[in-house]
Amino acid sequence: MNSNLYFAPSASILPMVIFKKIQDIQPYLSAQKAAGRGIGFVPTMGALHAGHRSLVEKSCAEGLFTVASIFINPTQFNDKEDLAKYPVTTEADIAMLIEAGCDALFLPGVEEMYPGGSDTVQTYDFGYLETVLEGAQRPGHFKGVGQVVGRLLDIVRPGRIFMGQKDYQQCMVIKSLLQQMPGGDKVEMVMCPIVREADGLAMSSRNRRLTEPQRAIAGTIYQCLVSIQGKKGNGNFAVVKKECEDLLSDKGFIPEYVALANADTLALLDDYNDSAPMVALIAARLGNVRLIDNILLT
Ligand code: PAF
Repeated sequence: MNSNLYFAPSASILPMVIFKKIQDIQPYLSAQKAAGRGIGFVPTMGALHAGHRSLVEKSCAEGLFTVASIFINPTQFNDKEDLAKYPVTTEADIAMLIEAGCDALFLPGVEEMYPGGSDTVQTYDFGYLETVLEGAQRPGHFKGVGQVVGRLLDIVRPGRIFMGQKDYQQCMVIKSLLQQMPGGDKVEMVMCPIVREADGLAMSSRNRRLTEPQRAIAGTIYQCLVSIQGKKGNGNFAVVKKECEDLLSDKGFIPEYVALANADTLALLDDYNDSAPMVALIAARLGNVRLIDNILLT
């Protein structure tokens, strides 16, 4: 894509402006702010689906000038094979963003994001969050997420950042990032609901890597979360957890964790505890595809 401007096929849809360079997007966004527009930001790694679309639509519905970014951030991939397999679907992503009403897209290359190498870009310490669940399974992952989102926020300087609940722990990391980074107090994180397929499978860029038989059973993760939620009043979590692990294994998944945690701190809970907001979280592998999902127990 050489041009900076991509015009939608229909005249009724406004064009979305595409920027590859920080030096171009920053004055453009400053002009929007000077004209009194609030900026809503949706960071992505592309391979967009209805979940991403809902984030863009939410930002637009709030009347914000909506900026999305597509950048496959190498520093958050602890598994380099995962990085190599990450789908690149830029043309389709651009079409979806335009349809969703996105105003501007930031589409930088690695050189633009990490001109002196990633070691020269600020990282943050997320403490406990880096050590549990996704943090434990994917060492270094949240360091990379914090690093790239910190950099993107410095560039875009939005008033709101829209994140999907599907990556619940990532949302908590971004909240912590906003508390730590200079100017972070001027940004509000909006966590948007998980968008699901008809069988409950949470929308994810990884779903497209599932084979047909794998896709047919992938909704089992959501079934497990619903059962954990349903047994909240009268269940023993250890029993429900075992039932879920057995069901997942019987279907052919390799469960990595089935966990219950305090929804505010992510402190792991051995059993249901009505005095705290809770979240149930599952990670499981199906072949070489790793799926995660969660449900709030309100
Ligand atoms: O959730 C993602 O797609 C990525 O982790 C994010 C937030 C865009 C950072 O690269």
